[in-house]
Amino acid sequence: MFNARTNSAEETQQLAACVADLAVARDLILLVGDLGAGKTAFTQGFGRSLGITDAITSPTFTLAKEYSGRLRLHHLDVYRIEELEEVRDLALPELLEGESVTVIEWGDQIVPALPQDYLEIRLEYGSKENERNITISLVGTSWKERMAQITKILDRWSVR
Ligand SMILES: Nc1ncnc2c1ncn2[C@@H]1O[C@H](COP(=O)(O)OP(=O)(O)OP(=O)(O)O)[C@@H](O)[C@H]1O
Ligand SMILES: [Mg+2]
Repeated sequence: MFNARTNSAEETQQLAACVADLAVARDLILLVGDLGAGKTAFTQGFGRSLGITDAITSPTFTLAKEYSGRLRLHHLDVYRIEELEEVRDLALPELLEGESVTVIEWGDQIVPALPQDYLEIRLEYGSKENERNITISLVGTSWKERMAQITKILDRWSVR
């Protein structure tokens, strides 16, 4: 588990860009946090670092969007999913198998439908305006050996 703090959307984007530098094909990242916590902001910084030049916008109404960069990015927002069965329409297994990275906003809501191998980024409002407490944890093995690198590259935002 790694605890970080940012004080602006730009900082959250920079932090996300650092995480993206470590991303490889078939990675899954869950973004967890309240409305406006910064999940889409995170994805924007993440995508920028993957070399995506198209504007990344919230997929709230479309559920899923796809962007091309160094790696393809699948950006999902499952806020509107009410039943796990609806997840089937997203064809997640196909998305997760490709030469791409998948980022899911509100991913904690569909955990039973996901492989138990992902990085979880939790964003919480801090005590000051624009402050966000960010907790990074992992489930499964694929991020395990990269956790030390995450700790190192995110050092400037670290909260001990
Ligand atoms: N430290 C911060 N990190 C991220 N966003 C911040 C921060 N401080 C302020 N903000 C602002 O908070 C808002 C975050 O919006 P964003 O759309 O990224 O949230 P979200 O978690 O995706 O919300 P939703 O659940 O509606 O999808 C933006 O307006 C952004 O400018
Ligand atoms: Mg969003």
